[in-house]
Amino acid sequence: MAREFSSVGVVGLGTMGAGIVEVFARNGVDVVAVEISEAALERGRATLTGSTDRAVARGKLAEADRDALLSRVNFQVGLGALHAVDLVIEAVPEHLDLKQRIFAELDRVCKPEAILATNTSSLSVTEISVATTRPHQVIGIHFFNPAPVMKLVEVVRTVVTSAEVVADVEALCERLGKVDVTISDRAGFIANALLFGYLNHAVSMFESRYATREDIDAAMKLGCGLPMGPLALMDLIGLDTAYEILDTMYRRGGRDRRHAPVPLIKQMVTAGLLGRKSGRGFYTYERPGSPVVVPDEQTPVTTDPALTDGPREIAKVGTGNARSELASPAAGTRIGTGNARSELASPAAGSRIGIVGSGTMATGIIEVFAKAGYEVVSVTRGAEKSAKVFEAVKTSLNKGVVRGKLSEADRDEALGRITWSATLDHLADVDLVVEAVVEELSVKKALFASLDEICKPGVVLATTTSSLPVIDVAMATQRPADVVGLHFFNPAPIMPLVEVVRTIRTSPETTATARAVCAAIGKTGVVCGDRSGFIVNALLFPYLNDAVKMLEANYSTAEDIDHAMKLGCGYPMGPFELLDVVGLDVSLAIQRELYLELREPGFAPAPLLEHLVTAGYLGRKTGRGFRDHTRR
Ligand SMILES: NC(=O)c1ccc[n+]([C@@H]2O[C@H](COP(=O)([O-])OP(=O)(O)OC[C@H]3O[C@@H](n4cnc5c(N)ncnc54)[C@H](O)[C@@H]3O)[C@@H](O)[C@H]2O)c1
Repeated sequence: MAREFSSVGVVGLGTMGAGIVEVFARNGVDVVAVEISEAALERGRATLTGSTDRAVARGKLAEADRDALLSRVNFQVGLGALHAVDLVIEAVPEHLDLKQRIFAELDRVCKPEAILATNTSSLSVTEISVATTRPHQVIGIHFFNPAPVMKLVEVVRTVVTSAEVVADVEALCERLGKVDVTISDRAGFIANALLFGYLNHAVSMFESRYATREDIDAAMKLGCGLPMGPLALMDLIGLDTAYEILDTMYRRGGRDRRHAPVPLIKQMVTAGLLGRKSGRGFYTYERPGSPVVVPDEQTPVTTDPALTDGPREIAKVGTGNARSELASPAAGTRIGTGNARSELASPAAGSRIGIVGSGTMATGIIEVFAKAGYEVVSVTRGAEKSAKVFEAVKTSLNKGVVRGKLSEADRDEALGRITWSATLDHLADVDLVVEAVVEELSVKKALFASLDEICKPGVVLATTTSSLPVIDVAMATQRPADVVGLHFFNPAPIMPLVEVVRTIRTSPETTATARAVCAAIGKTGVVCGDRSGFIVNALLFPYLNDAVKMLEANYSTAEDIDHAMKLGCGYPMGPFELLDVVGLDVSLAIQRELYLELREPGFAPAPLLEHLVTAGYLGRKTGRGFRDHTRR
């Protein structure tokens, strides 16, 4: 029989503590909620009432249930109030000495059979437990932010936590409607060990102005389907807490440089920019504690035509070097960005797009541009290839018709806009070329040298490369200022993101035009520098590689690691599910590129990944990767 927990205590009512109180009170458990001062107690109470009021407003909680929930919470200053509870969860700031002091005090105050739990994210539960005389009754119960929403709880047992206590806490998690993964005491447990290297890396991209905060966040949301971008997540976690977690993980987790907090984080903490809780972090919020982002000096000037005075206004935004002969008023209506060459960004002006290649990406990109109303010139290596691409585009458009997303007339018009050719000479008068041929530098360089000779001046030349340096391709031409990367995601007709990669030679006008074109085809273009992996792959693959290393170290199972990322961080797929979909060979190749370019020891491909690829276990496409797909 599992132990009854009729009343619990929560110590510290900050970002996590207030949410944990709500979880228990919602599930009918009496809570003694403890803070260090009256002022902090009031803040905690306000957080709880704010959260429950929002739930009522959204129709997720009845008013009577909210009142009942609040009546279960007894707010108190000082640990003395916890003498009768069955379980205490500590959620004070992430400092070992503070937590040890609190546990020593809890040990004195609480009844002998009470379980003492910490919500620490990165500190050693074992070190906290030895501050008490009952380390076998000390355990980690790691909730995720926001606690009332996130389903995961990591239950952390130390080498001395008794099996009975673990079982009691697991049963309690189930009663709270949570999914638990029980693991041993290692820095960052599962989720944070995989999350924080990624968050820190994203901050370093922002710090080095590799991309803007909006673009970094949009890239990870739209490119990976994450519920929020890494910088918005840092703000939610709290920069002070994130700093302490990184710092602890760096010291406890083998001094992996990727966990050494990026200096900007410390500067922001010192300046009081703690994230949502202080009203300002990477973003600015309506008021402290509010989730509503308000514009600040870093917010990009909106150039959405719907929000401005119309197309002429657009030509004025930015540095003003738009080519005036191209800025026809009718043309501007679909442009999203400042000083772009607007006729290019607008199908209404009859701009023509050349697309070179006949593979998956080229096929998808042809469809995207033709559907958006552009005249497309497709260049392949022969009539046979063109016929195949035509069929593939037609089949895909037909699917849209069957699903009711496209009329037959729209489909026919889109197909009618495509001209099929086997010679680059037909690109002489296009306004933009998108190259999507095989991922080999020599082939791409030769192609760009030809385009340089054939295309008219001022044309934007774009490569869809996902791993080669765009500057190498650009330097094969005499016009590197006009060359940019347009990294589409597969399948191009569906994925909403395009990374616009500018090299050190790309002109601002070319970048703005490329971004405007993305908007005109209904995609979000995010601008980044010309480095291996751009934004998405550089942030995604090291995390996947870390998950493989964690599995290899036998810290947890593939199932639990997948669970942890899905239920703790809201990821649409766990890392092993994703690796199997992407392909282990593709993942390994990307990870190797990252490692070779950045020489970051932590990016070295996991040996297990290499072995699986060598063994031919490449994921779904071969029926076996991390999982066996033939048995399902
Ligand atoms: N923020 C997150 O996303 C997150 C997620 C999971 C776990 N955690 C962990 O939860 C713990 C709390 O983090 P947080 O982000 O909620 O911090 P926070 O700074 O938002 O809140 C900490 C609270 O503890 C109170 N406090 C400080 N000393 C106290 C004392 N002696 N007695 C009682 N209360 C005291 C503070 O007044 C404050 O309200 C940390 O261990 C953190 O690593 C945080």
